[in-house]
Amino acid sequence: MDSNNNKIEKVVELLRSSKHTVVFTGAGVSVESGIPPFRGAGGLWERYDPEEVASIYGFKRNPKAFWEFAKELLVKTKAEPNKAHYAIAELEKMGIVKAVITQNIDMLHQKAGSSRVLELHGSMEYVDCLDCHTAYKWEEIEKKIEKEIPRCESCGSYYLKPRVVFFGEALPSDVLSEAMDEARKCDVFMVVGSSLVVYPAAHLPFIAKENEAKLIIINYDPTDRDEMFDVVIHGKAGDILLKIVEKLKHV
Ligand code: APR
Ligand code: ZN
Repeated sequence: MDSNNNKIEKVVELLRSSKHTVVFTGAGVSVESGIPPFRGAGGLWERYDPEEVASIYGFKRNPKAFWEFAKELLVKTKAEPNKAHYAIAELEKMGIVKAVITQNIDMLHQKAGSSRVLELHGSMEYVDCLDCHTAYKWEEIEKKIEKEIPRCESCGSYYLKPRVVFFGEALPSDVLSEAMDEARKCDVFMVVGSSLVVYPAAHLPFIAKENEAKLIIINYDPTDRDEMFDVVIHGKAGDILLKIVEKLKHV
């Protein structure tokens, strides 16, 4: 049996006896949907400067740089949920997963059927004009950015900012405190596809551990936090989570 299979058995055992599992995801859970991660192989931060394309200062200096980046991150991929998203939604339907806490802004967990999703870094669902405060749905903007940099239809401004958390901005406090509550009350905290380098999101596994939860990480690459986890599985989230759900279905 390859070492991952033994570890998958251990995860199945932990999930089967869990009363309240929380799943915490990062960009790695969407890589199999065609959305590049930020770090590791093919990471966006090797090709883009986060200060320029993902910070509030960079956005105010040059919103066009963000929209070029957004085109690659979200539009070109026409991303759909992958096996990992569907497996996590299935674990919720099985009554095991009570909440998904995600750092992702791609809304793929909801598209896959997860109903309780805490988006720590917001999402692309709404885009606001910073000048006249007109609010747009993502679909209206998505149509435009194939051809041009979107402008506000009411006032012509280029300062159309999606409701995502840029570097230099605070996380939505209500979402963050709900996520901390979940980390406190869960008995299993499962990280999927995150390098655990960006705070305060990366603090959540520590809160779960302080509250005696069992910690699982499923990530392609090792992280600096692996040693705090009870089970560490390195590999692709889609295949691994599918195996876990299959085994849970067969008692
Ligand atoms: N399956 C599982 N893990 C994967 C896969 C895969 N198919 N592909 C990549 N990974 C792993 C990588 O090994 C990497 O460690 O996913 C992790 C993604 O890490 P990051 O790109 O750093 O993403 P994330 O942890 O979500 O970053 C947090 O940083 O730039 C900010 O706001 C941005 O929300 C983001 C935050
Ligand atoms: Zn406007």
